[in-house]
Amino acid sequence: MSERATRDRIGLLRAALALTQERDVEKLLGRIMDEVTRVLDADRSTLFLYDSERRELFSKIAQRAEVTEIRLPIGRGLAGHVAKTGTAMAVDDVYDDPRFTPETDRSTGYRTKTVACAPLLTPDGRTVGVLEVMNKREGVFDPDDVKLLTAFAAFSAVAIENARLYDEDARKSMQIQALNRQLKDALERQTKRLANVEQELESSKRELGERFQARNIVGRAPAMVELQRLVDRVAGTDAPVLIQGESGTGKELLAKAIHFGSRRAAGEFVAENCAAVAETLLEAELFGHKKGAFTGADRDRQGLFEIASGGTLFLDEVGDMSLEMQKKLLRALQEGEIRPVGARDNRKVDVRILAATNKDLDVMMKEGTFREDLYYRLNVVRLRLPALRERREDIPILVEFFLDQIAKESGRPRATVSDRAMKALVRHGWPGNVRELQNEIRRAAIMADGLIDPEHLSPQVLGSAGADGMPTGGTLKGAKLALERKMIEAALKRTGGNVAAAARELGVHRPQLSVLIGKHKLARKGEEA
Ligand SMILES: Nc1ncnc2c1ncn2[C@@H]1O[C@H](COP(=O)(O)OP(=O)(O)O)[C@@H](O)[C@H]1O
Ligand SMILES: [Mg+2]
Repeated sequence: MSERATRDRIGLLRAALALTQERDVEKLLGRIMDEVTRVLDADRSTLFLYDSERRELFSKIAQRAEVTEIRLPIGRGLAGHVAKTGTAMAVDDVYDDPRFTPETDRSTGYRTKTVACAPLLTPDGRTVGVLEVMNKREGVFDPDDVKLLTAFAAFSAVAIENARLYDEDARKSMQIQALNRQLKDALERQTKRLANVEQELESSKRELGERFQARNIVGRAPAMVELQRLVDRVAGTDAPVLIQGESGTGKELLAKAIHFGSRRAAGEFVAENCAAVAETLLEAELFGHKKGAFTGADRDRQGLFEIASGGTLFLDEVGDMSLEMQKKLLRALQEGEIRPVGARDNRKVDVRILAATNKDLDVMMKEGTFREDLYYRLNVVRLRLPALRERREDIPILVEFFLDQIAKESGRPRATVSDRAMKALVRHGWPGNVRELQNEIRRAAIMADGLIDPEHLSPQVLGSAGADGMPTGGTLKGAKLALERKMIEAALKRTGGNVAAAARELGVHRPQLSVLIGKHKLARKGEEA
């Protein structure tokens, strides 16, 4: 082997070794240019990369900051020609070669004479660019130089591909790391948020619990004191409780006190008014339904039994349930399982049942309108809430309680009640019980602006107060009729002619009020007197 050939090979091997160690693509390209310039004893080199999208070569000139990027379409210029043919070549004087583009010299200010050029070919035959050396220090680039450049370009192409892959890998793994970090941050944020929400939920449940504790059931009447004691006692058990009492006496309040005092306080308290829902819907409400079980069931829906599982289900107006529904309820209670409407399987539920009614279930049972077996299931413990008129001594403390409540809710100064107004309140019959009293106080507090006087109370409260409006003569029947007419008139006026609302206020059923309105020839909403 000639001395030159040996020198070439050693130079090439050293360069190859240096290149395989460079992982950074940009640095590698600079390295290739340095090495190829040295190995081929040239003055300069240019490395073109192939932009497959634009089908163009563009020069990597990191090595020479003063030179702007050169872009050559495939086939144009010497490098473009080499890229197109895929074969290396040498030119002794570029200005004699028609393929040379003198613009490049003009734009760089460099004077090119001799050139050797080889494609950067990967082993699988893809051209990733072109390597060009310029101006051999002595003489021209000979065929050995072209061979040497071809070999150099070949392993440069591999080195570039490797570095790119490595780079991409690194970028990907960096991206993955960044993504992981983001994910972790997001997860931490969510976890924190969740913890906050849980805490809020916990404290609002505690608040709710406090609001419904037995001690918040206002009442000093012996019957109420006894009830509060019983609430504490039954709260500690899972026994079904039947709560009886007129509308507005506090049945739901009592049920909540039991729930929040029990080990089920962390579970849901779910109330369902059995009288307010049509029978067919009640079953779906309580047990849930599958999508398509009936017209309008456009999706699966969980029933209240499942929602209340782990907690308490309060069945209000349970005496208004149809016999068919009573049967289904009984089965659910006996088996501790429910079956959603349209479902084929049963589901276990763990629910404590509290039931309420203002009807006399004993009578209904004897009449056959309430199932005996269900009655005994619901009626393990029975609590009876007295009507407000049976415990008038509680009226003043309830009034004070509601005034506190209103002040707290509205943030306005707490109103007080004059003695005369309080007398009227205590004397009234309260057919709507505590709810009616609560509404009355709310209304009066708005009207009164500080001190509640009799004039701020509604006519029916005053009406039955006697003292002032006492008729001085006439028959009892006439007085009764006059009072009846006066009260209905006032109620209709207050409710804006809404018969249903007036009936509720007066404690009568709507049809009954309609009859009375007709009797007294009073005007309804939208009618002339
Ligand atoms: N003893 C009581 N102490 C305080 N508030 C009461 C009392 N009883 C009833 N209330 C209030 O009166 C309203 C009606 O009570 P609720 O439990 O809904 O009656 P019911 O279910 O018997 O119709 C509710 O706002 C309730 O908080
Ligand atoms: Mg109620």
